[in-house]
Amino acid sequence: MENAYDALAALYDSHWGTAFLSRAVHAFETHLSNRVPAGASILDLCCGAGHFSGWLERHGMQVTGVDSSRELIVYAQRRAPLGQFYCRDMRDFALDERGHDAAVCYYNSLNHLMSAADFLATMRNVKAHLRVGGYFLFDVTLDACYEKNWEGEETAQLGERQFEIAYRYDRETKVATCEIRSDDHRWEFEQRPMSITAVERHLNEAGFAVEATASLDSMNIENGRTIVLARCEAAG
Ligand SMILES: C[S@@+](CC[C@H](N)C(=O)[O-])C[C@H]1O[C@@H](n2cnc3c(N)ncnc32)[C@H](O)[C@@H]1O
Repeated sequence: MENAYDALAALYDSHWGTAFLSRAVHAFETHLSNRVPAGASILDLCCGAGHFSGWLERHGMQVTGVDSSRELIVYAQRRAPLGQFYCRDMRDFALDERGHDAAVCYYNSLNHLMSAADFLATMRNVKAHLRVGGYFLFDVTLDACYEKNWEGEETAQLGERQFEIAYRYDRETKVATCEIRSDDHRWEFEQRPMSITAVERHLNEAGFAVEATASLDSMNIENGRTIVLARCEAAG
């Protein structure tokens, strides 16, 4: 099946690529900078076009990036030329490089997991790649955030080409869609909300201890966008 992020890599890079970067940096500086050594080895899970990978590398860290879009990885490798990047599915990846000091997963990426089983499998995979005492920092979007914010339309221009983008949230099925149309092409991304209780339960099951759940700038926990910091408790 076509990976929509591959087909839309150039659009992702220009339209959404920097959208989360300042939040990603802020969360890292708030929660992780003091917990990892200088030159730390960081797994950037769902690295996308590598804007945060590039930031990590410019700040002296060793980057390993994982993403299921081969095309986005091309951008990421350019932004972090010293990094190692792998085209893998987060639900099922096993790299030779393990023992990372920390992993991050940003910008609704974990909300792309459409079942609890996939979420748990991903937590276990992340844990298997961290050292004991390593950290996992990620954002997760809750139901309230999709209800409040995931509705609307916009257009994006890429060279000569125009894209129509529509965000919809189905409150019954709890599926958020981002539909993109251009000429006679149509793509769709799906996300689903997570509850903090379920996130904590899955983290614990996978062998993490939750150290912090924090609001993400003005979107506080009640508004449904949350940063989670978890610590790897035992060997994976
Ligand atoms: C909204 S983007 C976020 C990218 C990047 N973290 C950022 O901040 O710009 C979601 C990313 O998750 C990746 N992704 C979605 N499902 C995935 C999966 N099952 N395994 C690995 N990557 C996945 C997509 O290819 C995309 O790069």
